[in-house]
Amino acid sequence: MSVVIGQPRDRVDGPLKVTGSARYAAEFAIPDLAYGALVMSTIANGRIREIDTGAAESAPGVLAVLTHRNAPRLHAVVPVPAGFAGSSLLPLQDDRVYYQGQQIAVVVADTLERAQHAASLVRVEYDEEPPIPRLEDALDAPFPPSSIFGTPPYSRRGEPEQGLAAADVRLDQTYTTPTEHHNPMEPSATIAAWDGDHLTIHDATQSISFTQEVIATMLEMPAENLRVVAPYVGGGFGCKGTVWPHPALAALAARQTGRPVKLVLTRAQMYTSVGYRSPTRQQYSVGATREGKLTALVHRGISQTPAYDEFAEFTGSLSRILYACANVETRNDMVTVNAGTPTIMRAPGEAPGSFGLESAMDELAYALGLDPLELRLRNYAERDFETGHPWSSNGLRECYRRAAERFGWERRSLTPRSLRAGDRLVGWGMATACYPVWIFPASALVRLLPDGRALVQTGSQDLGTGTYTVMTQVAADTLGLPFERVRVDLGDSALPPAPTSGGSDTAASVGSAVYLAARAVRDEVVRRAIVDPASPLHGSAPEQVVVEDGRLFVAGNPARVETYAALLERQGGAPVEARHDCTDTVMGGNGPRFGMHAYGAHFVEVHVDPLSGEVRVTRWAGAFDIGRVLNAKTARSQLMGGITFGIGMALMEHTVADPRVGRILTPNLSGYLVPVHADVPDIDVQFVGAPDEHANPLGVKGAGELGIVGAAAAVANAVYHATGVRIRDLPITPDKLL
Ligand code: MOS
Repeated sequence: MSVVIGQPRDRVDGPLKVTGSARYAAEFAIPDLAYGALVMSTIANGRIREIDTGAAESAPGVLAVLTHRNAPRLHAVVPVPAGFAGSSLLPLQDDRVYYQGQQIAVVVADTLERAQHAASLVRVEYDEEPPIPRLEDALDAPFPPSSIFGTPPYSRRGEPEQGLAAADVRLDQTYTTPTEHHNPMEPSATIAAWDGDHLTIHDATQSISFTQEVIATMLEMPAENLRVVAPYVGGGFGCKGTVWPHPALAALAARQTGRPVKLVLTRAQMYTSVGYRSPTRQQYSVGATREGKLTALVHRGISQTPAYDEFAEFTGSLSRILYACANVETRNDMVTVNAGTPTIMRAPGEAPGSFGLESAMDELAYALGLDPLELRLRNYAERDFETGHPWSSNGLRECYRRAAERFGWERRSLTPRSLRAGDRLVGWGMATACYPVWIFPASALVRLLPDGRALVQTGSQDLGTGTYTVMTQVAADTLGLPFERVRVDLGDSALPPAPTSGGSDTAASVGSAVYLAARAVRDEVVRRAIVDPASPLHGSAPEQVVVEDGRLFVAGNPARVETYAALLERQGGAPVEARHDCTDTVMGGNGPRFGMHAYGAHFVEVHVDPLSGEVRVTRWAGAFDIGRVLNAKTARSQLMGGITFGIGMALMEHTVADPRVGRILTPNLSGYLVPVHADVPDIDVQFVGAPDEHANPLGVKGAGELGIVGAAAAVANAVYHATGVRIRDLPITPDKLL
């Protein structure tokens, strides 16, 4: 195997994307389309006393105005914490307002402009109650979620208090991270079209399967009558990973007006309609011996959630497993605020959690007078201390070694403010990356066609990560076909079911299903060849047969060869197909026998202008263990994307809301800054892992979220090394350094 797997192939969908012919959810040309426009609440807490839709209804082109007064009832999706609905707050079901920017009406018209104009004519009067929009104003009443991603929110092992008391050096610090928004290039959008009692929705989603299930539940219709289509998705990062209210609203509006309805969220509406990363507050108490061995680690994390939902940011996950320590306690609590439901955002939990933990480790290293890398190595976890299980595979030491070498870490001085480049202060920092291996049930169908091409079908989706391309590689290699002769269909709920593309699970979960289905097809074709008296391979043993370049031949005897096309034609010209249903669900770190994680190490250089406080990231060396690399080019892009996200998290990204009324003041990319090319250095990405034989049949560990984990801490640690100023509150904006 591995003629094609691992190669840095260009994306198969690249030409479609650069020519604009890849169709995204809002781009499907549906006849007779009508357009929806949302009306959002302007208060953060209270009730709608009056909603006057008269002017909107009589505006030109308006087909319907839906509010809580006239909207059809929607069926609740429960239980939400374990489920897939982004929010359990169903839209337009009553007069209650929980946050600024809540959807309170949808106007449908024959053009977008007329819908938007009419939406501006809806007049609302409220009975307002005082809101608590901010986490820091709700800290008096923290409470735990029932679970986080199936894991208890609290953990304890050993004797943390005694471990702290016995420490030679002790660190007690609090780290905070702000509200962040996903900001994919493609906004969330739905086109809903009814045909009798059958509904088709084109939706910008990371999960056509959850969308089908959740929307069918909300509308109380059989899931098989609902088709969800999403051939291309312009990024999601988590905000399209669960199902938010707008597809249901589009479906209601379409039913009400008897026309297909398109509902596209504006960039500003994306800030209150599809989740966000909760702000976090993380307290750490860490103890160590003089030699730098951890004696205790206590983590207390707090995030926010609205009154009607629980979503907790799992900041404590890495504290449980990243380092060897016998005495560990973690808690993840929530507080109730007047804001929408937070959600998963690239490395939920681990991204902010690693900022706290890896900053604390850096502070501990300085307190001990130890090199920060040396401190990590002295506390390297040889197994999963939380469960006692061995690692399925662990390339972390090699990640440290390779990235440090590429960076030139051994030339480092320990002293802050000791490096300069002209008038800039120079700092070097490092941090560890780690992300669990998630696997969810997935199915795939592989069909070898009589002309020697193959078709792969799975109801997964490509968010821009390269799913089409890597699945093509997996099938091509397994079937022994040229890359160009394999076509992959994704993004349609009529295809075999596949999970949400979230938790970096797609390559592992869907890739394994494609691999096993393709292997079944290959085995069947080989079987047919060796039992067919007319085949040159007749009578050979199956293990002797090699498949390559669309041909079957006997190893060591290339004269005994025939093509797939010749064999299938002789057999009657029918395709050979197999479907594989992977039912494994192994949760990283909680797997039944192994702790399963992807790993990495970041080494970073920053230049800081001492006069302006401006931080520039000038160098980045990262090394990663993601198990088997399916495509060296798309995998590198995933890591670079995660690191770029991490640079944004470190230096720029934060959503600003009015502290009194919760109104988001930065609901666009002019106010909410993300890195542009000029903010990002050449990122050196090395892969050091080997296929993880315990993780899944392909040995893949996932790449999408790993890059952001530790990235913000690495920058913060470099900023400390440059300036001697420790920033414990993200982002590291110039004002905090002056
Ligand atoms: Mo990722 S936050 O699981 O889309």
